[in-house]
Amino acid sequence: MLTRRGFISTGLRVGAGLAAGSAATFLSGCAHRVAGPATLPSVTNQITGSGSLKAHAAAHGLLTGAAVAIPLLRSDPAYARVLSEQYSILVAENAMKWKALRPAPDRFSFGEADALVAFAEQNSIKVRGHNLCWHEALPDWFAVTVTKENARQFLTDHIMNVAGRYKGKMHSWDVVNEAVDAKSGRDDGLRKSPWFEMLGPDYLDIAFRTAREADPHALLTYNEYGIEYDNEEEAQKRAFTLQLLRRLKAANVPLDAVGIQSHIRAGSSYSFGNGIREFMASARQMGLQVFITEMDVNDDELPDDDVAKVDHAIAAVYRDYLTTVLAEPAVTAVLTWGVSDGHTWLNNPMRKQRHPNRPQRPLPFDENYRPKEAFFAMRDSFDKGMSRNLVND
Ligand code: G3I
Repeated sequence: MLTRRGFISTGLRVGAGLAAGSAATFLSGCAHRVAGPATLPSVTNQITGSGSLKAHAAAHGLLTGAAVAIPLLRSDPAYARVLSEQYSILVAENAMKWKALRPAPDRFSFGEADALVAFAEQNSIKVRGHNLCWHEALPDWFAVTVTKENARQFLTDHIMNVAGRYKGKMHSWDVVNEAVDAKSGRDDGLRKSPWFEMLGPDYLDIAFRTAREADPHALLTYNEYGIEYDNEEEAQKRAFTLQLLRRLKAANVPLDAVGIQSHIRAGSSYSFGNGIREFMASARQMGLQVFITEMDVNDDELPDDDVAKVDHAIAAVYRDYLTTVLAEPAVTAVLTWGVSDGHTWLNNPMRKQRHPNRPQRPLPFDENYRPKEAFFAMRDSFDKGMSRNLVND
């Protein structure tokens, strides 16, 4: 059970008084005096060990983590070191999706997924699985092979094989990802995904029940995006998402948590607050934990080319958003969708870039793994949040 121990008093804050924009040399393990951005004073700060994200999070019963690109994990020791120093939970950015795991209808390819689980085990880090059922990242053979007749078998076989392989090793699984889409025009808000078209709304029930059978210990999660902001579109999506979660609970479908992806934006007129607060409280009242599963801050609406100003604006969004969500006791994990600005889906060349000469900087570390203002904003927000007792520790 989640237990609210009350808000942390200011006296317990670690690192209080650090400038929001403080920077530190990285990979040191000891205190360094470093120069911050020109407008900020130099500070002494330690960012590993007791100064790490995971230490600050753990002090309040929170897990913190990041999405991992396995090719980088294999090729870049500095990346691996940041992962082991900073995070208490990891998730594969792509390696556990159908497209990565299923080279052919009758074959599985677990190399990259196994590498993440092994790395996490060696470093005593928890792992989230992402994901077992989604309308994207399906292999090319899917559309010409999976039919109404065999879809249930493909789905259950996949989940039994994948969740079964890592049975007892996973903190949680995103069992179904992004099932809601108001634009599909249905009264229940469900997306007309391939799974929906072949199996109807029951595909969610099937996926969750199979996941529980495959791994009774993992926290089974429904993961969604576009439910963070206080605008009409996202309010409607929150309502549809809650409607879905209530239906699943009423049908005794095993469901333990809801993931709020949290791909949010700097510099827009969007605002968050009451909508997400009420959403999280409703999830808690259903007995669900809440995970912030994929946080990053898109800066393409910022006019500025001054990197320090961009980073400052991004950090402010981290601070505001995390302060808002961490006031909710059901939130037990915060993960960012990547580690450093050197590798982020937002800079994928396939995406149209508003500022082609200014790559996005959405993550807590820069391209050289130096902590940015966003790193310190995360730590400060963890410090200000309330303490929780982790259910699945
Ligand atoms: O690895 C291939 C490479 O060999 C090839 O040359 C290249 C050409 O397109 O593609 C590479 O694969 C790309 C892969 O990312 C690895 O970079 C895929 O095209 C690309 O579609 C894939 O995008 C991923 C996307 O999900 C779709 O699966 C992103 O990395 C990943 O960050 C993104 O993550 C999603 C979450 O799963 C769900 N929530 C939203 C989030 C962001 O879109």
